[in-house]
Order: sequence, then structure tokens, then C-alpha cells
Amino acid sequence: MPAAAAQPRSRILLISGSMRGASTNSALLRTASANPPEGVEAELYAGMTGLPHFNPDDDRDPLPPAVADLRARIAAADAVLVCTPEYAGALPGTFKNLLDWSVGGPEMYGKPVAWVNASGSPTRAAQAHASLETVLRTIHADIVTEACAHIAVPRRQVGEDGTVADGEVRRRIREVLAILARYAADRGEWTPH
Ligand SMILES: Cc1cc2nc3c(=O)[nH]c(=O)nc-3n(C[C@H](O)[C@H](O)[C@H](O)COP(=O)(O)O)c2cc1C
Repeated sequence: MPAAAAQPRSRILLISGSMRGASTNSALLRTASANPPEGVEAELYAGMTGLPHFNPDDDRDPLPPAVADLRARIAAADAVLVCTPEYAGALPGTFKNLLDWSVGGPEMYGKPVAWVNASGSPTRAAQAHASLETVLRTIHADIVTEACAHIAVPRRQVGEDGTVADGEVRRRIREVLAILARYAADRGEWTPH
């Protein structure tokens, strides 16, 4: 009997824009990493607190170790999924700092990227997401619109394990990973012209 073919694995890097311990945005991504679809590995990036303040003078070899680590993780991922709150009508400064560190390297160029929006506010954090789209377009990420989704996560839904138990939230975030992974796999290896 022939050996079963190995399942192709897609690696998706999950980046939360919030540093808050009980963050709803991080909880949604943690839920994704705990329950990925078949053939998908989803890793929640845990290094945002260790990134230095962005300074173009430091954006050269040898890079600060935390920045080199961030870029290596982006490079190793087939796709990136972000989830961010809105602070004062814009992206949180710490998350924008991370995005600024991504500008100087080639890792985000052409990388399939999607966002999930966990906001439960009436405005749905629209200004942060408009800003996010501007940044992603500017750094030439490949925005996978069909994988982007609004999945509201009220604070009461975050359990003690830091994940969301709600079945519909789990189903939808799994679907987002599946769409993003399929897009990345279908596109295959991509190099800029
Ligand atoms: C300093 C600060 C500014 C905020 N500004 C906004 C805002 O402009 N628009 C909005 O919809 N929510 C705003 N919020 C609410 C957060 O987006 C909301 O609490 C969100 O759940 C935080 O995400 P987290 O649960 O992942 O930490 C603000 C919160 C803080 C702490």
C-alpha cells in the first residue's frame, strides 16, 4: 500500500495589534492558533513588546535582534493575519511601530495579508482599518480581501485560557485561516518582477 502523501502545510503568522493581557484581538488570534484547519500551522507572534522604537538609523545590519526575529518570522510565513484595535481614531502606536520595522526589509513585499476586526463598537474601528489598509498597500503587501472579516469579540467571550469558546467565532476564524491558506497555496512561490 503506497504511503499517504504528506499534507501540504501552510504557515500563517498571526499578529495582534494589542499588548493588553486580556486583549480581545489577541484572544481571537489565539483561538485561531489553537484550532487551525487541517494542513495549517498558525503561530501567534509574541515579540511586539520586545521591539525597539523604530529609528531609521538602526534599520541596517546588524539589525536589533527583535527586529531580525520579526522579519525572519514574516519571511518563513506563507501568509500573515493581523487583528488590531483602534486607539484614538488610528492604529495603536506599538503596532504601527511593528509595521514601520517591516518597511525596510523585503519580507512583506507581496506577502498575502488579511485582517480580522474584533471590534464591537458601532464604528467597527473603521479608522484604524482604513489606516491599516493604507499601510499595507504602501508596503506592497498582497491584501487578501476575501479572507478579511469582521468577527466581533465582546470582552465577556474571552475565557480564562485566553481563547474564545463561542462556536460561531471559532467557525469563522477557522474559515478565515482556510481561505488565506488556500490563497497562499494557489498563488505558490511569488517573486517580484
Ligand atoms: C487609549 C485608547 C484609545 C481608544 N480609542 C478608540 C477609538 O478611537 N475608537 C474605538 O472604536 N475604540 C477605541 N478604544 C477602545 C479599544 O479599541 C477597545 O477597548 C478594544 O477592545 C481594545 O482592544 P483589546 O481588547 O484587544 O485590547 C480605545 C481604547 C484605548 C485604551
